[in-house]
Amino acid sequence: MIRADELVKRYQGHVVVDHLSFEVQAGETLCLIGPSGCGKSTTLKMINRLIDPDEGIIRVKDMNILQQDPVALRRTMGYVSQQGSLFPHWTVKQNIGLVPGLEGWTKVKILERTRDLLDLIKLEPEQYLGKYPLELSGGEQQRVSIARALAVDPPILLMDEPFSALDPLTRFELRREFREIKKKLNKTTVFVTHDLQEAFLLADHILLMDSGAIMQYGTRKELQEHPANEFVRSFINAQVNEN
Ligand SMILES: Nc1ncnc2c1ncn2[C@@H]1O[C@H](COP(=O)(O)OP(=O)(O)OP(=O)(O)O)[C@@H](O)[C@H]1O
Ligand SMILES: [Mg+2]
Repeated sequence: MIRADELVKRYQGHVVVDHLSFEVQAGETLCLIGPSGCGKSTTLKMINRLIDPDEGIIRVKDMNILQQDPVALRRTMGYVSQQGSLFPHWTVKQNIGLVPGLEGWTKVKILERTRDLLDLIKLEPEQYLGKYPLELSGGEQQRVSIARALAVDPPILLMDEPFSALDPLTRFELRREFREIKKKLNKTTVFVTHDLQEAFLLADHILLMDSGAIMQYGTRKELQEHPANEFVRSFINAQVNEN
């Protein structure tokens, strides 16, 4: 479904993504994980062309995305950014209905879809439709961002640390809900996190990065049982011992 070959991104001559290659099969979740500044968000943003690589190719369904219109491309990919980006002067209903509106859906259909999505993320529609982002808790904002990303039912989801700003209990609940949602909707997902437990819980495959380069690509079992090098071993040990 998604295939990246030898991606390179430089800023001011400094390599931040270093010949990165990976593949995500349809319906699979790939977790990008690694220390702060290792290039996870940059890599994710290259998939929906918020950033274009200096070298390398990304193909989605065998088509080179650099030859596609970025706006059309993004309609096929729900995106939850690291900063959370609900429009502050728009209600929950307006935020979730944004992309369906751009796609020319009728008002009735948009409202119906918005209610279904609020049910899915367990926010009572009557109570939440008219609220503004500032009237929501952090966890509720995260849920609404996820609902917005799902609105037009895109086949691909790109999620950049969507649960990172939450308390452990809310994070735990949202992860479980997300796993259920994923099972129900069968999305191809690239999920950024720096939390190994989260990656273990959600990922089919994990791509562990350091300084823009791949340290190891594999399943949870492969990383745990056969760490590729000392970096992988210490990354896993540090996080396992922390918990
Ligand atoms: N627009 C930019 N201009 C210059 N340098 C940038 C820019 N965006 C990112 N960088 C640098 O590229 C590197 C990778 O950044 P990126 O945001 O991809 O890291 P990350 O792995 O997502 O980190 P975090 O876990 O903290 O979110 C960092 O060193 C960052 O300072
Ligand atoms: Mg980031």
